[in-house]
Amino acid sequence: MGLAIELDGLKALVTGSGQGVGLGIAKTISAAGAEVVVNDLSEERANAAADAIRTAGGKAVVSCFDVTRYDAVAAALAQLGGVDVLVNNAGNAGGLGWPGMKPFAETDPADWEPFLRVNLYGVMNCVRAVLPHMIAKGYGRIVTIVSDAGRIGESHMGAYCAAKAGAAGLTRGVAREVGRHGITVNNISLGTMRTPMSEAMWSNPDGPQAKALMKPYMIRRPGDPSDPAGLAAYLASPMASWITGQTFPVNGGYSVGQ
Ligand SMILES: NC(=O)c1ccc[n+]([C@@H]2O[C@H](COP(=O)([O-])OP(=O)(O)OC[C@H]3O[C@@H](n4cnc5c(N)ncnc54)[C@H](O)[C@@H]3O)[C@@H](O)[C@H]2O)c1
Repeated sequence: MGLAIELDGLKALVTGSGQGVGLGIAKTISAAGAEVVVNDLSEERANAAADAIRTAGGKAVVSCFDVTRYDAVAAALAQLGGVDVLVNNAGNAGGLGWPGMKPFAETDPADWEPFLRVNLYGVMNCVRAVLPHMIAKGYGRIVTIVSDAGRIGESHMGAYCAAKAGAAGLTRGVAREVGRHGITVNNISLGTMRTPMSEAMWSNPDGPQAKALMKPYMIRRPGDPSDPAGLAAYLASPMASWITGQTFPVNGGYSVGQ
């Protein structure tokens, strides 16, 4: 018999799981037995994701709310009766989008807010809203998807780096508070992925832009949503009960030695 990650009986909220990394994680967590709460801003994407999970034999419900609005997050969590697992995945590339990234010296304060609102405040809202139920239950798993841009630094992405580094810091602070309640809090730090968010960079995967991007990666391809999914499922499981406050790079070897 093989070793299996068992999430039977657990309810797992994956924010922004209508597509991309979140969908990859939602599918894997569901395959491990959890009931997945598919969240997204887009009802169409969330419903399609939940249908795909059900078609594969998993359990999924849809809860569409905007992670940047604390009142909406808290209302959704009250309706769900809390969750056992939270994967903070919803993120954005800010108002500028990937191709519009620019040097920090050329940004306006108004450019920063969209990055911070989703990638930092969105995470804070969700963590705050799930904790009371987890504390009462004496069990909880929180996994936050951050970025090597915030962990190591990336040019033309200052506000995004700040937001992701802030979310990673929240993990470490909260992990210290809630370990005694059986709750673990960890980060997965991603390298460059191929998802709808970053598709513009991969329109020509064999072109010079894609090749230059992949040069520092030991594994010369962008990450696929399935790449971090197994680690997310493991961190969400009872097996990972002595792992908390950590950041795990999933990045094709990009940052080895950094
Ligand atoms: N794509 C990359 O190269 C890359 C690299 C490092 C880290 N990440 C991180 O991985 C995570 C997922 O990225 P992705 O590439 O799959 O993105 P994506 O844009 O393809 O998908 C993100 C999903 O989140 C949803 N979403 C956005 N804002 C939301 C909000 N306020 N409330 C609820 N849902 C919201 C979107 O509707 C979308 O369906 C993000 O946190 C991102 O910062 C991505």
